[in-house]
Amino acid sequence: MRKMVSVGGLALMLAVVAIVLVGAQAVKPVAQKPATPTAQALAPTPVFERVAWMELAKTPPMGWNSWNKFGCNVSEQLIRETADALVASDMKDAGYQYVVIDDCWQVSRDKSGNIVADPQRFASGIKALADYVHSKGLKFGLYSDAGSKTCEGRPGSNGYETEDARQYAAWGVDYLKYDWCNSDGVDPKIAYPTMRDALKASGRPIVFSMCEWGTSKPWTWARGVGHLWRTTGDIAPTWNSFGRLLDQQVDLWKFAGPGGWNDPDMLEVGNGNLTLAENRAHFTLWCMLASPLMAGNDIRSLTPDVRDILTNKDVIAIDQDPLGVQAQRVRKNGPLEIWVKKMQDGGQAIALLNRSNAEASIAVSWQEVRLAYDAEPMVRDVWAKQDMGRVKGTFAARVPSHDVVLIRVK
Ligand code: GLA
Repeated sequence: MRKMVSVGGLALMLAVVAIVLVGAQAVKPVAQKPATPTAQALAPTPVFERVAWMELAKTPPMGWNSWNKFGCNVSEQLIRETADALVASDMKDAGYQYVVIDDCWQVSRDKSGNIVADPQRFASGIKALADYVHSKGLKFGLYSDAGSKTCEGRPGSNGYETEDARQYAAWGVDYLKYDWCNSDGVDPKIAYPTMRDALKASGRPIVFSMCEWGTSKPWTWARGVGHLWRTTGDIAPTWNSFGRLLDQQVDLWKFAGPGGWNDPDMLEVGNGNLTLAENRAHFTLWCMLASPLMAGNDIRSLTPDVRDILTNKDVIAIDQDPLGVQAQRVRKNGPLEIWVKKMQDGGQAIALLNRSNAEASIAVSWQEVRLAYDAEPMVRDVWAKQDMGRVKGTFAARVPSHDVVLIRVK
């Protein structure tokens, strides 16, 4: 009884408050002259408040990064020409959007602690460069380091996280790669969340690429901190390096998914002496791994062969599949391997990889990839762009040395 009275009383009070509020609203002048807009009023509402952190990388980020090909030899001219070439070569249309300057764009800090870009190589300033990249419909990224200095000895962000994040946001940065050199005494589980929080607080949506080389097994803790985390040391443009990094991904499939991705390092497609087959195999396996696709070659001088690999929409669709599942290696028979990636359409992408020095036949049975015994799925050879019709029991292919056959099965 007492309870009923108090509930009734509360309802009455709420009704009175509501009437007062509505009344107050009603007497408010309706047509107010808009105040002269101030800088404050003109500032965009922090987009980030509307876009959840994880949403920034629902699928693995795609773009281009200067390091693998150019190292410290970066300049505004290179970045502008690369942005132009990404558009002209259809790379942008294929999905590559972030143009990221890696190490060596920065030279010092000024008296107030602001990071200073190389005034010779970036004479027009980083803001103008970001504006140019944006004007091409692309996004812009920079690099820093969680330690005192970057790997090339430029100023790191340790102790300057807030200042740097604010500066990046003011310049229009959309992507930050954050390295791990000179980080003695720094705990990655503190340093990376610190920069993540600074980026969030900047009010600009910035994809956060953790480059801690897998040292602290970031896949076990970095979901929600970075959108991608390096799982290995640096890649090199060789077949051996490809295989070494690939082997290190085998057990990591359970940690990848929308919002956070294992990063076996940036692409070397088109670099070094990789053959066409090797480029194709490297690209295919990175797509199977749902790896971020950061091209690392000179986009201004793409050969048609390399362009056709990097822009193959059917292969990229496997990487970008919304289900976000990383492939598992279901068989390793010496240098002959079978990798399987579950797709959102209920089917699978299957890569038959030949790491040996001679052509080989590789056969995959549906049983092995957990399709029903009696299944007779439709098979499409992705690189050959060929429908193979319904295939019963087993699919077998001749796979050239250091090459791959990639099929979609449904
Ligand atoms: C480290 C990173 C590389 C690159 C260089 C730059 O080695 O792993 O990807 O960023 O630093 O100095």
